[in-house]
Amino acid sequence: MSTVSAANAGTETTRLPGEPILPEARMHVVLPTSPVNGKVVHSKLCTKSKSASFVRHVCVDVSGTPLEGSWLAGQSFGVVPPGTDGNGKPHKVRLYSIASPSYGEDGFGKVLSTTCKRLLSEREPQTAKDDPTDHRLFTGMCSNYVCDLREGDAIPVAGPAGKRFILPTDRNAHDYLLLATGTGIAPFRGFIHELFVGPPEGSPLHAAWRPCTANVHLVMGTPYTSDLIYDDFFRQVAKHHANFTYHTVISREVRLDGGKGEYIHHYMDRTLPQFDQLLRSERTLAYICGLAGMQVGVFQTLAQRGLHSGYLDIHADLAGIPPADWTAEQVKRRVHATRRCMLEVY
Ligand code: FAD
Ligand code: A2P
Repeated sequence: MSTVSAANAGTETTRLPGEPILPEARMHVVLPTSPVNGKVVHSKLCTKSKSASFVRHVCVDVSGTPLEGSWLAGQSFGVVPPGTDGNGKPHKVRLYSIASPSYGEDGFGKVLSTTCKRLLSEREPQTAKDDPTDHRLFTGMCSNYVCDLREGDAIPVAGPAGKRFILPTDRNAHDYLLLATGTGIAPFRGFIHELFVGPPEGSPLHAAWRPCTANVHLVMGTPYTSDLIYDDFFRQVAKHHANFTYHTVISREVRLDGGKGEYIHHYMDRTLPQFDQLLRSERTLAYICGLAGMQVGVFQTLAQRGLHSGYLDIHADLAGIPPADWTAEQVKRRVHATRRCMLEVY
């Protein structure tokens, strides 16, 4: 056990073996109560092929605003749609993960991006007061606003937010297990860019950048193959870097081996030998991003397989209960991610 200055906490603290030193992330340089205008410079569907869901890679130029150069890959930024809600109040801010590396899409920290999924659904009761017979179309306010924007349009933005879901200062001091569902892939696009692609020529960071030597596994879960996001990009990187492995897990298609669709934790469980050594290593950091609730199955699987050490603090109350029998509520209240396990679910 060693004592170090944890820059992210701003205090002297005890660091357990393998715990990362995180860089200091700047937070809320622009408050949602007074957003600044960015400009949409690019917007493109980013699913693998024609999909029932609409997910866009949206790039926003924030040059000349306090957001320029002020985010780290993995942080989020806020969008404050103009206008007012049904009660006449200004729309509240929505957070979107930054899909860019810290040096931006441009290499100068001027253009950030996100991976925005249109919320489109039939209405479902959200409270006891809601009419269960009302099944008209429900369209999310901000996601559709962002996805409707065209190149050249202004977008009111704030942030950045989040100080833990970021890469450690010394990238090569760790190995990485990155687990995503759906748009939870967004921060991992930024991570993979930063670890394996690097700043474009002309960027002040280009000359000093070196590809990461760590082992990185990215596991991405979507309903159908057509829903995979940034799939070509991850395949290209994996082709050129033997230390990067890209896994795709499809929940609603029959697998090539005839097995049924599965969630990412089922896949990890079924193919455990390829993760066993990685998870047992003290160097490894786990990052989990996407659907609220996805951590339940992941945590249960890690605990069931005795691979949770270093990633999870499990309350003594659960000692006699097989992890497969833990309820979602028990996981939420009694299982906590350690500093080697970063969680961003929404
Ligand atoms: P809203 O208009 O706010 O509607 C959502 C609300 O409507 C829900 O809270 C629910 O109460 C209700 N609702 C939902 N479905 C129904 C239904 N069928 N019937 C009736 N009511 C319903 N999103 C992304 O796309 N990409 C990202 O990278 C991303 N990153 C995020 C990072 C963080 C840290 C967080 C917290 C969230 C992130 N989100 C991301 C989610 C994003 O912030 C918004 O919540 C999402 O876009 C929906 O917002 P909206 O304004 O479109 O929907
Ligand atoms: P499914 O929708 O078949 O139940 P998207 O955001 O694009 O819909 O993708 C989310 C993916 O995560 C889907 O494949 C979805 O499967 C899957 N999923 C849903 N619930 C969980 C969960 N609790 N743990 C892991 N994956 C989940």
